[in-house]
Amino acid sequence: MKATIDGKVTDIKAVWFDDGKVWMIDQRELPARIVIVWFDDYLEIAEAIRNMTTRGAPSIGATAAYAMCMAALKGCDLVKAAADIKAARPTANDLFYAVDYMTAELSAGRDPVEASDAYAQMMVDKCTKIGEYGAELIEDGMKLMTHCNAGALATVDMGTALAPMRVAQKQGKKFFVYASETRPRLQGMQLTAWELNQEGIDHAIIPDGASAYYMSKGVDMIITGADRITANGDFANKIGTFDKAIVAKHMGIPFYVAAPISTFDFSMESGEEIVIEQRSEEEVTMVGDIRIAPVGSKALNPAFDVTPAELVTGFITEVGILRPDEISKVRQ
Ligand code: MRU
Repeated sequence: MKATIDGKVTDIKAVWFDDGKVWMIDQRELPARIVIVWFDDYLEIAEAIRNMTTRGAPSIGATAAYAMCMAALKGCDLVKAAADIKAARPTANDLFYAVDYMTAELSAGRDPVEASDAYAQMMVDKCTKIGEYGAELIEDGMKLMTHCNAGALATVDMGTALAPMRVAQKQGKKFFVYASETRPRLQGMQLTAWELNQEGIDHAIIPDGASAYYMSKGVDMIITGADRITANGDFANKIGTFDKAIVAKHMGIPFYVAAPISTFDFSMESGEEIVIEQRSEEEVTMVGDIRIAPVGSKALNPAFDVTPAELVTGFITEVGILRPDEISKVRQ
């Protein structure tokens, strides 16, 4: 992805390995500042996933792969490391997929840095394919909508939901994107809008509650990412996705989910089995150090919701665009 650092447009990834350390953009600081942090301890890397220094399913996966790499380089107990890293966040399938991938590669004797770098690059390659397939759906003059951040920040580079937009922009297509702000952590406003700005893609931030209003005024297609997709095509994504899918169905607007196969979990038959992360009340009640909710009111903060397959038009994957009833094809 492009980022302007010290006045210079630079190519940067969300997470990478260099000089014995794992480096990442601290996504909590965007868009105000681009802060790069590094870690050389796998538990600190797991904590960076938990506290959302880095976030978004494929980036969480790549970061987990680098955490396993670091554990191997330091001679740690890899069974314990795998369990510690998997405990960081419960919902994104990529976290578990990446740790299992690294466990298999390391037990086959593969070099830890080579294996984790290959994992991160594999995600970028998959997202590039997602971008190519998804761009075919975007036509000149379209109005698109997305939620949360399923961009390069969330996927090492390129993005899932934003990859088709990146490719369509390069193809010279003119389109407009509504990015919903994504309460309470504001990934839509702070991260998606930042990426769309860097790419020069025409967009506006809207309050989450304005999605139905703008859909009623004319949205041609919605594209979101996913954290976990089950065998029947139900999927978990950022809280608020389900609302959009219901309204889209009501209004006849196509609703696409862009995700690599690493996000599919065929061990779960339906979305009812997905563990939904519950985050702190403070994310809802506080702005910085200031409490904006009445003292005495409690808050609930589910990070994700589950959208049933019947509301999905198609899944944009690295192997093509699949209807929900076609996803068993990618089970292998
Ligand atoms: O809590 P987050 O910011 O990790 O949630 C991210 C999302 O919900 C994304 O839409 C999803 O992970 C797909 S990322 C390509």
